[in-house]
Amino acid sequence: MSLLTPEWTALLYLVAAVCFILALKGLSSPKTARRGNAIGAAGALVAVITVFFSARLENIPLILAAIAVGSAIAVPVARRVQMTQMPQLVALFNGVGGGAAALVAALELSHSEDSWVRLAVVFTMLVGAVSFAGSAVTVGKLQELISTRPLLFPGMPWVMGAVMLGAVVSGALVVLSGSVGWSLALLGLGLAAGLLLVLPVGGADVPIVISLLNAFTGLAVAASGVVLGNVLLLVAGTLVGASGTILTKVMASAMGRGVTGIMFGAFKGGSTAGSTAVSDRPVRSSSPEDVAVQLGYAQRVVIVPGYGLAVAQGQHTVAELATALADRGIDVVFAIHPVAGRMPGHMNVLLAEADVPYESLRELAEINPEFANTDIVLVVGANDVVNPAAKSSPGSPIYGMPILDVVQAQQVVFLKRSMRPGFAGIENDLLHDPKTTLLFGDAKDSLSKVLGAVKAL
Ligand code: TAP
Repeated sequence: MSLLTPEWTALLYLVAAVCFILALKGLSSPKTARRGNAIGAAGALVAVITVFFSARLENIPLILAAIAVGSAIAVPVARRVQMTQMPQLVALFNGVGGGAAALVAALELSHSEDSWVRLAVVFTMLVGAVSFAGSAVTVGKLQELISTRPLLFPGMPWVMGAVMLGAVVSGALVVLSGSVGWSLALLGLGLAAGLLLVLPVGGADVPIVISLLNAFTGLAVAASGVVLGNVLLLVAGTLVGASGTILTKVMASAMGRGVTGIMFGAFKGGSTAGSTAVSDRPVRSSSPEDVAVQLGYAQRVVIVPGYGLAVAQGQHTVAELATALADRGIDVVFAIHPVAGRMPGHMNVLLAEADVPYESLRELAEINPEFANTDIVLVVGANDVVNPAAKSSPGSPIYGMPILDVVQAQQVVFLKRSMRPGFAGIENDLLHDPKTTLLFGDAKDSLSKVLGAVKAL
């Protein structure tokens, strides 16, 4: 017997759905993102509790055990994960969601007589399996368990075509006959399609693929709502599918790429990885004291944070440095590139952690015209997002990506550990420019030394 009447269930589902919509609204601005996240989590909790008390559940001890095991794994992992490993975690959770939707649909097949419901079962199983296997590959690439370069083998497009054809045929047979054997073949082909789809994607494009697979999981979950006759799954899945699709589009255009080029570019021989060669051309290096003098006597300073700032966890120190410079009457702002770091909004989140006021952040279009009036640009652990090759080298993996035009400033100071390239694996000519100096070392360490020297001026 269920403890909630259908009316109460419907009302609580409505509350959860409204929470999900408010969560998305909150997540659209850094100021409200934390609250949005909390509202979304509350909505999910309402949904789980409602299902628990409204469905006629069997095997309650098994369900409670599964919840306990899931929580015991997920909570410590989510608490301990480094900010720079967040995309892997998101990919992992997303893949597990797609896999769960596929398994639930597979189990429902035996209860589905209606062809339309069987069609929804087939869709959920196929898309969920693609999302699960594809997400596993993205985790492997981001964690560098497998090569971040596009992985191809001769005849791969043909194998891919055969797998897709096999999936369509077995899907049709499942709809017509409800056969369990064909449904297992469909699952296997879905997993193979997920692997084949993501293996050829180069490392720099993996975060965009994660967002695309997230949209796939959303669609699989929405279809599982049709299979189970559950409106809330339909609403939540559609929201994830739509927002994931929009995010994929926004990220791809911020990197000057098309989604088809990202997924299938490697088949045409297009480079998505680049060379990791390091040039031995001379560069000008500097000391923390010299950088402090340059900064301390400037009128206008722009700080460009990048992935290396996140790795070094130097956000608090860079915020302190910005305050120390502002206290000397210097105009200091942060220039935020949309794909700096490894996930959307990475730099916003990082700087918000250090309480950098939102008013000090400038977006790419806003800051680019101002570099010409800037005395010094301090590039902290960023590389690709300021690399002029994006404008000047057709064939380079970042060609076409809008960049922060720091070369227009009077002087540029790079804080990095070595001459190694950034994520795209290509050399940055700006490091050899006469107006550039390099301060080698871990970003946090270098920032602390520069901060100390600025305070001593
Ligand atoms: P990168 O180009 O990856 O450069 C990071 C730089 O930080 C490297 O040159 C590295 O040089 C330095 N570094 C690493 N650890 C450091 C440390 N502890 N201290 C000081 N420096 C350190 O980063 P970016 O400029 O932020 O560009 C982001 C890249 O990711 C782009 O290629 C972008 O296309 C790609 N991407 C981002 C996203 C999103 S959504 N953010 C999505 C897809 C792709 P050393 O090793 O010499 O120190």
